[in-house]
Amino acid sequence: MKILLKNALILRDVRSEPEISDVLVKDGRIAAMGNLKGLIADEVYDMSGRLVMPGFVNAHTHAAMTLMRGLAEDLRLREWLTEKIFPIEEKLTEEDVYYGTMLAQLEMARRGVVAYADMYFHCDAVARAALDFGMKVLITRGLVDLDSDKGRLRQNIEYYERWNDRDGLIKVGFGPHAPYSCSTSYIDEIARVALDLEAPVMIHLYETAEEKYELRDLLETSLKYCKVLFAHCVHVKDEDIRLLAQENFFVVHNPTSNLKLGSGIAPVQKFLAAGVQVCLGTDGAASNNSLDVWHEMRLASLLQKLYDPRNISAEQALCMTIEQGAKAVGLTEGRIQVGADADLIVVDIDRPWYVPRSQIKNHIVHAGSSSDVFATMIKGRWVYYDGEYPTVDAEHVYKKCEEAIRRLTGTTS
Ligand code: NI
Repeated sequence: MKILLKNALILRDVRSEPEISDVLVKDGRIAAMGNLKGLIADEVYDMSGRLVMPGFVNAHTHAAMTLMRGLAEDLRLREWLTEKIFPIEEKLTEEDVYYGTMLAQLEMARRGVVAYADMYFHCDAVARAALDFGMKVLITRGLVDLDSDKGRLRQNIEYYERWNDRDGLIKVGFGPHAPYSCSTSYIDEIARVALDLEAPVMIHLYETAEEKYELRDLLETSLKYCKVLFAHCVHVKDEDIRLLAQENFFVVHNPTSNLKLGSGIAPVQKFLAAGVQVCLGTDGAASNNSLDVWHEMRLASLLQKLYDPRNISAEQALCMTIEQGAKAVGLTEGRIQVGADADLIVVDIDRPWYVPRSQIKNHIVHAGSSSDVFATMIKGRWVYYDGEYPTVDAEHVYKKCEEAIRRLTGTTS
């Protein structure tokens, strides 16, 4: 299968400047770039007036929480969790998680996301939803040991055995929920399993000011040697920031969720200054309430400009959202180059806010929005194209989600 995108303005990677080029996609990968006049393909698309760029990566979310979007507003994290979220999550079935995840993928694809990192449960459903839709996902099973439920780690290992590397779309990692819900010894046990399988770990870290534990203690476990995605990191002590500056560590900044739950603003500029690798996530739709990484990118830049307008250039913001996100999640290259999977988005730049064209990267971060996404391709397959979802029946997904929400909340209308 050969797909030819003609006459597009191409942003090959976040560090280069856009240029006019054709792109040939063959069997899921970028096969050629440049002037490909006269080349025959199965499908040809004229992309004049459009920008083709690497897709965004949502490096921390709980996809199926789309089912709880808008149900738990104006609360602090603890009340949000215990009063609203946990009672509903107790009732979630495998099928609910499948459709909730599918709903999340519909939204993410439409907003230009090609890969995401998930932490949830009923992970077979997450895997099936990703394969059915054609989206890339790093799956982690949320693990806690407050209830001594060690069976969940076994379950996470089984998910790894069943789904890791499936169709080039799925990686499975491990999801110790947080240092306040997992003991240090349990985190060490999980980390040793992850190291053995060369699988990444995702963990919430210092989301709120109430969390009392020592990062040093955590890094005395085997976690120090794992590839780790630390979500939030709002309240990392200044003297501890350098501990996160390791090649195998990533901080996932979730600015909207942190603001909406009143958790605070992560010291992103300090992280960057210390050499910490920072990428972006939305967190779940119950605390965001959208899965719009494009929006997070702009917010991340603006929040740091509050302290100094020289903080977080457009290129740095794009780097967090695409390049670092790709490195953290590990399923996509974060660049359009020959040999890489064709994970790309098409942005309609035939709009007033993309003029002048000479400053396109600044416009993407500070003037554009995810509603400018015209199409999203993952591994050479369109998963969103001009209002349509070629791989799934979106109406059916909406209907199943509405049914699930009515059952979960006990409403009949
Ligand atoms: Ni989270």
